Amino acid sequence: MKSQIILFLTILLTFIYCQDDIPLQEYEIKHIEVMRNNSAECTLFLKKDSSFPLKEPGKIVLVGAGARGTTKGGTGSGDVESRYFTTCEQGLEKAGFEIVSKDWLDKFPEFKKARHQDFVEYIKRIAEKYSSSAGHINFGAVEPEREYDLPLEYSDAVAAFYVIARNSGEGEDRRIVKGDIYLTNSEIRDILYLNEKYEKFMLVLNVAGVVDLSPVKDVKNILLLSQLGVVTGDIFADIVLGKANPSGKLSDTWAAVKDYRYIEEFGGIDNTRYLEGVYVGYRFFDSVNVEPLFPFGYGLSYTEFKVEYSGIKNNRDVFTIKVKVTNEGEFEGKEVVQIYLSPSQENKDKPYQSLVAFKKTPLLKPKESTELNLTFKLSDSARFDEETAQYILDRGQYIIRLGKSSRHTTEVAYITLPEDVVTEVLKNIEGKPDFKDFKPKVKYDYDLSDLEEIILEKKDFDKKRVDYNSYKISFNQKLMSFTNAELARVCLGDFTNTKEEKIGAHLQGQAGETVLHLDKIDKYLVLADGPAGLRIVKKYGIDEKGVYRLCENTWALNNRDFYSDEDWKNVDTLENNLGRNGTVYYQYATAIPTGTSLAQSFNEELVETMGNVVGNEMDIFKVNIWLAPGINIHRNIQNGRNFEYYSEDPLLSGKMAAAMTRGVQKHKNRATTIKHFACNNQEMDRFNDNSIVSERALRELYLRGFKIAVQESNPIALMTSYNLLNGKHTSERRDLLIDILRIEWGFEGLIMSDWFNSNDIKIGLANHPNQHIVSNILGGNNLKMWGSKTDYDLVLKSIQDGNISTMNLLECAYKVYATIELLNQ
Ligand code: BGC
Repeated sequence: MKSQIILFLTILLTFIYCQDDIPLQEYEIKHIEVMRNNSAECTLFLKKDSSFPLKEPGKIVLVGAGARGTTKGGTGSGDVESRYFTTCEQGLEKAGFEIVSKDWLDKFPEFKKARHQDFVEYIKRIAEKYSSSAGHINFGAVEPEREYDLPLEYSDAVAAFYVIARNSGEGEDRRIVKGDIYLTNSEIRDILYLNEKYEKFMLVLNVAGVVDLSPVKDVKNILLLSQLGVVTGDIFADIVLGKANPSGKLSDTWAAVKDYRYIEEFGGIDNTRYLEGVYVGYRFFDSVNVEPLFPFGYGLSYTEFKVEYSGIKNNRDVFTIKVKVTNEGEFEGKEVVQIYLSPSQENKDKPYQSLVAFKKTPLLKPKESTELNLTFKLSDSARFDEETAQYILDRGQYIIRLGKSSRHTTEVAYITLPEDVVTEVLKNIEGKPDFKDFKPKVKYDYDLSDLEEIILEKKDFDKKRVDYNSYKISFNQKLMSFTNAELARVCLGDFTNTKEEKIGAHLQGQAGETVLHLDKIDKYLVLADGPAGLRIVKKYGIDEKGVYRLCENTWALNNRDFYSDEDWKNVDTLENNLGRNGTVYYQYATAIPTGTSLAQSFNEELVETMGNVVGNEMDIFKVNIWLAPGINIHRNIQNGRNFEYYSEDPLLSGKMAAAMTRGVQKHKNRATTIKHFACNNQEMDRFNDNSIVSERALRELYLRGFKIAVQESNPIALMTSYNLLNGKHTSERRDLLIDILRIEWGFEGLIMSDWFNSNDIKIGLANHPNQHIVSNILGGNNLKMWGSKTDYDLVLKSIQDGNISTMNLLECAYKVYATIELLNQ
């Protein structure tokens, strides 16, 4: 029966989507099914009344930029070339709805087209301002939505939907303008109108990140659909019909723009000072007591849950909270239970609360209950004291809160520490900011009466003292026979591809590979991007002239306005290659939900399942290293790559990355790469901006997700970031890469740089130098991607000049070689 269903689905989907193509393969069907069965967990309602779900499909009004122009995920290297994906319009039509607003959908794109030239001029102006090229500035730039005016008079519809779409990607940050983070006047007008006119109205957010919803926050229903890859429109239809119940929670605080911004510096072109210290996201909103529109951890579904505290146990400083969850509504669904920890006033300068544990229930039928155990370790909440380079738990009370979001919690118990406890003794990293971190001037009030108290003493904690002399460079006998020139080649991504191999020597669309054509090494690693699936070229041809694309080259297409017609003819695009008659090859990978969408599931098992799908496809296409997941925290809602990353919270980010890594790495010879290490929190001048961060904020927020991922899932690779950190590129910082990553956390994998060569461009004003291959090697960055002849020559010259030694090369080459061996078994 199951195989018959699969066969039927194959024929149906092949007919709908790919009449010119090979049929959907069995793995694609299976993977799409996994997406269909799981992705609603990544969505949530921000507002909800009882008008949905609809009992059956009928006539509906469907409008808004995302109705037909649905986004499945962001742009740039985080984009995945999925064979197809369902738009909201397609999803609803497949489900049997009749859309009465087709004329609106047909006319809507005209308004954006009419203003397109303004956008092109804007890009050119920016390029001129920064003495850069328009192509470089336009890389990742997304045109904002425009004002429009179209009639909305439809009779006979049972419900109306307005779908907002926003997108962003690598190379450019989102802007605080109407049509990006703000809604356009036209969007506000039509959303409010439809909300008034139709009893059943839903605002749908098909977005890469936060949009300021202040003007429309009171509409009856708001669904955060997010970007769900291949099944985006199908999941929308499933939710509308109640075939799926959203069970996600916000992985970020959604607030009005004005409320985020008063302490933050963002988008600097030389230096960006992280003035807010540890007060990012809800840590800020809760501590200064500003009410967000929708808090971190918040989300509604078609059902209601009762969450009851049923007890606490501890073994020294490890606490387990027992919680009973009951589905009190009419729909089956899942709930996310969250535990926050609030230090009492006596504790110095700590955020009002931080998430210390979360867990999702299994699917609960109406009236069904389950018991969950949530565990956290108190020492993980210690404050990093910069003066002494120690993690300290200040004496006082730590209140445990149980809730369904950061703003819907109740105190259930508290821990008392009679004296300060040092939990870890470390050493400081180099470089200090020229400012003192923001400190809120708010008093937190707690009522601890009637709560259970647990008193801990010093002996309940382990004190870890890190021995920085314990680091030993590993060597491999085989590498001892390599010349310096050969070692230099091993430390660089391969740069010897011939013209015929232009999209990648072993896999079309891969991001890079390790050294090829070196007699002493006969194996190599293929690296390909993510995180929303496997980024490879989905269809290409090979003829006597070489390899060519038979699918859109999205980057080139986005830059079409900046090519002359003459130059455009030579670009490798579908349009230019249609006349070629070579052999055609297909590499269809599945677009999974974006990082932020996955984090909204708060479901580690689900994310592991998604990782398994990626791992399967890595097996099929023989990719060794997946350049994902990204764990940079959402410091600012403008970051153009937030959609690739998980959350403003480091615990959630780290747990998600660990789950993803487990899913991928259960496949032999397959590895993840956690990236971008660290403080790569903006795209503006991403190659040379200097993130200036206090060591406390660095350790407590920006490094914490990486640490969790390393310690809980052992990722085989890590990618350093482009930016500088307190004056030095991260790929050149031995304190970050060796002292913290390898010695403090025990990371044994491969450290690679982000894709950059020593001679790559600098954006206009940036005064900081580019990363340099020699400093990378000295800093402990093992593999410089993507590798270039210039870098190779620079290494050889600096050996001659005595700036690096064979020993330095051996240290890096060993990790590259060991990883090649490890992933080629
Ligand atoms: C991005 C990385 C990506 C690499 C390879 C860089 O531009 O920052 O995230 O993995 O390209 O495509």
